[in-house]
Amino acid sequence: MNKILSAVYFLCFVLALSVLYSFTTKSFSKYNEEEPQWENLKVLPQDISKDSLSSLMKSYSKSLGVNCSYCHTPREDNPKKLDFADESKMTKHITRGMIEMTDEINEKYFKPHYPDPKPHQVSDVSCVMCHRGTAKPKTYLENIGDLYPSIDVEEK
Ligand code: HEC
Ligand code: HEC
Repeated sequence: MNKILSAVYFLCFVLALSVLYSFTTKSFSKYNEEEPQWENLKVLPQDISKDSLSSLMKSYSKSLGVNCSYCHTPREDNPKKLDFADESKMTKHITRGMIEMTDEINEKYFKPHYPDPKPHQVSDVSCVMCHRGTAKPKTYLENIGDLYPSIDVEEK
């Protein structure tokens, strides 16, 4: 009986080891993957890593309160997946201007005017700062009067 039990334990041990091993080899092979080749980057750096691109895209989605499909078109062969290099959505084109504008605000109007060592906040103008979770910030800005008591400049 004991022999069977120890045999079972041994098998479990071998199994656990092989699972661990497959995990490590997987992450190693991922690590060795060649630089991703993006098809249609026009404003982001061509050599941006998969992780950086992915976290940028997630931050755009979160800042605007939308899904990837707000800017990316479904694939023709499989509509459940997106064709990320496709250019048919207007929102993708608008976003390029938004990225350039945001970068320019940081580079031109913030960074040069802070003395070294520059504080971390120097590049903190970002999508969410204006968008606040909506694609169309104008809509909430139009209602901003409701948030503040009206200010009468004449009375001062
Ligand atoms: C607000 C618009 C917007 C949203 C939302 C968005 N993207 Fe993008 N995405 C873009 C733009 C713009 C580009 C092209 C950037 C450039 O030209 O440098 C791009 C490029 C990409 C690319 C590179 C495609 C290539 O090979 O050229 C991938 C992959 C991608 N996005 C994935 C995603 C994923 C995944 C999501 C959801 C988590 C997402 N995107 C959400 C606007 C968006
Ligand atoms: C300085 C403020 C500001 C910043 C920063 C900003 N946006 Fe915008 N964005 C706007 C305004 C204002 C509009 C017009 C919205 C409207 O029509 O209500 C707009 C429109 C858009 C639209 C078009 C929405 C539509 O469906 O018509 C997209 C997409 C967008 N922005 C993405 C981004 C992304 C991504 C970033 C960050 C890289 C960004 N924006 C940064 C102010 C900003």
